[in-house]
Amino acid sequence: MKKTPTKKLIIANWKMNPGTLKEAVNLFGAIKNLGKTLGHKGIEIVVCPPFPFIGALTDKVGGKVFLGAQDLFFEKEGAFTGEVSASQLASAKASYVIVGHSERRRMGETSDLVAKKVAAALTKKIMPIVCVGEKERDTEGAFFHVLHDELLTSLQHVAKKDIAKVVIAYEPVWAISTQGKGAMAPNDIAETIIYLKKVLADKYGKASAKTKILYGGSVDPFDAPEIFKAAGVDGALIGKASLSAAKLEKIFKAV
Ligand code: PGA
Repeated sequence: MKKTPTKKLIIANWKMNPGTLKEAVNLFGAIKNLGKTLGHKGIEIVVCPPFPFIGALTDKVGGKVFLGAQDLFFEKEGAFTGEVSASQLASAKASYVIVGHSERRRMGETSDLVAKKVAAALTKKIMPIVCVGEKERDTEGAFFHVLHDELLTSLQHVAKKDIAKVVIAYEPVWAISTQGKGAMAPNDIAETIIYLKKVLADKYGKASAKTKILYGGSVDPFDAPEIFKAAGVDGALIGKASLSAAKLEKIFKAV
């Protein structure tokens, strides 16, 4: 029997952009139209806007385009000023949430905290997109230990039955927002993603075969075709380029 290829997952991480609700609604509409005109079924698109815009986009979810958030808090409800819960996100139809992005880890978020957020998301059937990535690459390969530790500590509360409900985003910190210098070399991406898949398989066994691992870090229309060809890449987490419908169109075509 012919094996159906799994869908590539494209996450648009808008970060603290765009500046207004109107721009957010327009950009979401443009991305949704791109989703409609894509003739094939091999792609799923998740848009992660800033919190204030999520509610306004709730009714616009559909087709190949889903909503995600850029963070959440692990407590269920209560006196946690400025925080947002998994159930609040679920009620606004966010079906994904980014956790442990390096820009949040830089502000003090630890893998133990990320782990609690992952568990909270799963209780509301929201797919956590868990970001891991080394700050720098050394020739001795110490970065593999960094990745091993970050990945397994962030997933410490995830049971075998849930491992396929988690998405991993491998984002080498040094390759994010490189201002046009480009993404990591496709061979290195493939090597690292295969390593991460092995770490998951060692801990979770066959259950992890369906866990998607994405690449993130300066993905743009030029690099995208080679990145998607790299072994083991199940999709991409895209920052800057996801604010342009024209760039996203080229990236979708590369899939
Ligand atoms: P970038 O961001 O594509 O702008 O490098 C990726 C990310 O931080 O998720």
